[in-house]
Amino acid sequence: MEKPEQASSRRSFIKKLGLAGTAAATAPAALAGTGSAPAYLNLIKRHNSTAANDRIRIALVGTGGMGIGDTQTALMVEGVEMVAACDLYDGRLRRAKELWGDALFTTRDYRQIIERQDVDAIINGTTDHWHEKISTDAMRKGKHVYCEKPMVQKFEDGHTIIKVQKETGKVFQVGSQFASSIIISKAKQLLKAGDIGELVFAEAQYDRHSAMGAWQYSIPPDASPQTVDWDTYLGTAPKRAWDPLRFFRWRNYQDYGTGVAGDLYVHLLTTLHTITGSKGPNRIFASGGLRYWKDGRDVPDLHLAIYDYPKTAEHPEFNLTTRANFVDGGGGGYLVRLVGTEGDLAIGWDSLTVRHHKLPKAPGLSIDNFPKDQQEAYLNEYKKLYPTVYEMEGPREMVYKTPKEYKGDRYEHFVNFFDSIRNNKPSIEDATFGLRACGPTQCGNISLFKKQIVGWDPNAMKIQNTV
Ligand SMILES: NC(=O)c1ccc[n+]([C@@H]2O[C@H](COP(=O)([O-])OP(=O)(O)OC[C@H]3O[C@@H](n4cnc5c(N)ncnc54)[C@H](O)[C@@H]3O)[C@@H](O)[C@H]2O)c1
Repeated sequence: MEKPEQASSRRSFIKKLGLAGTAAATAPAALAGTGSAPAYLNLIKRHNSTAANDRIRIALVGTGGMGIGDTQTALMVEGVEMVAACDLYDGRLRRAKELWGDALFTTRDYRQIIERQDVDAIINGTTDHWHEKISTDAMRKGKHVYCEKPMVQKFEDGHTIIKVQKETGKVFQVGSQFASSIIISKAKQLLKAGDIGELVFAEAQYDRHSAMGAWQYSIPPDASPQTVDWDTYLGTAPKRAWDPLRFFRWRNYQDYGTGVAGDLYVHLLTTLHTITGSKGPNRIFASGGLRYWKDGRDVPDLHLAIYDYPKTAEHPEFNLTTRANFVDGGGGGYLVRLVGTEGDLAIGWDSLTVRHHKLPKAPGLSIDNFPKDQQEAYLNEYKKLYPTVYEMEGPREMVYKTPKEYKGDRYEHFVNFFDSIRNNKPSIEDATFGLRACGPTQCGNISLFKKQIVGWDPNAMKIQNTV
């Protein structure tokens, strides 16, 4: 044990170094499991509940890119059958029959879908501005709902979905598939085990450099008011004359989409909240603008945001920065990284990279510019405090990969959806979670457009104190 005078001289030396209270003043805790964890993921779930005879009949509303992708994935799950499809553009209804057979019931009117007795659940793959109305109508008609992200176009409407889900008791799951990812599940496990120390910061970048990446989608040659139900499409959005750009490239307009922030960052907040158990930030600041894709769009192609996450029972105080740049002459790139006091977690599409970098016990020296006698005096004390002890170095970087047989996050997400329906289990990504993920991202739009810092109450899920 240290004698009192030794302790006092140690304290005074530490004070001189200006290190009191830092990690150097206390011995850092050992990293749990460093070096022994296997460099692969072994978390494949057993899908016992998806018995083939337990049939679930689904219908798709919104037969566009994601709706088709979702449906094809849903049909990979045992016992799931496709009954009907709905869209406002006739070409997409023809495409639905090409994909799922001539017997498929198709309609332009989603109300005909949710009236059907042979439909147990719908996939809502419509444009953002239709999510709330179609999802709540469907639940009221007794259907379970898998609703694409962002859960709602206007965060205020999220409370209606929460209410209707509670009233009807139907399963409602948001379609941000990262909530079911084994990569995210592993990251959550590592963070909880203290593998990267305490979370201090998180960052994400979605940089792109292509017309498709910047949402300039192809428009079919037969697009016209005859082949598209334009009036219904507008819904609660302002009335205007037929405009194929606003129908097929809806993401570029505030009336139908949620801009870069609502569209892309919602996945990131889903990821972050799943890993940390967070309810969300309480302050959001964003900037950016329209720099290159000046094709009539009214959303930015460069969006930068900072989110403040307050200390809660689930996590320490930390900050998040996000960037989406659709004009990246460097070629683009994707990054999601959580940074802790002893390491970081970088999340890729099919991998998780963990790096460890603990602060050394000895702070190091910068004494070359001291006179010789001071160098010696300092070194003497330093060596007493930090005697040279050589230690083996463990692995500093580990890469976890998804196993070959892993069918993807979206497949896992649908397995969870159908499991909730069949076994009466809570939704893995329910309406409250969905609102906590999409609300703050929409505050990022408000901040950019109004040039204000937006306060957000993550518990009540409401805007507060915007300055
Ligand atoms: N989870 C993901 O990774 C992911 C990826 C891409 C898109 N999405 C989400 O999926 C949704 C659809 O995006 P997309 O890229 O497939 O767009 P899309 O334009 O390809 O498809 C949307 C379809 O919805 C239809 N539609 C709109 N209003 C309708 C209504 N009232 N009734 C019936 N059909 C209606 C349109 O006709 C269109 O065919 C969006 O909310 C988007 O954010 C999620």
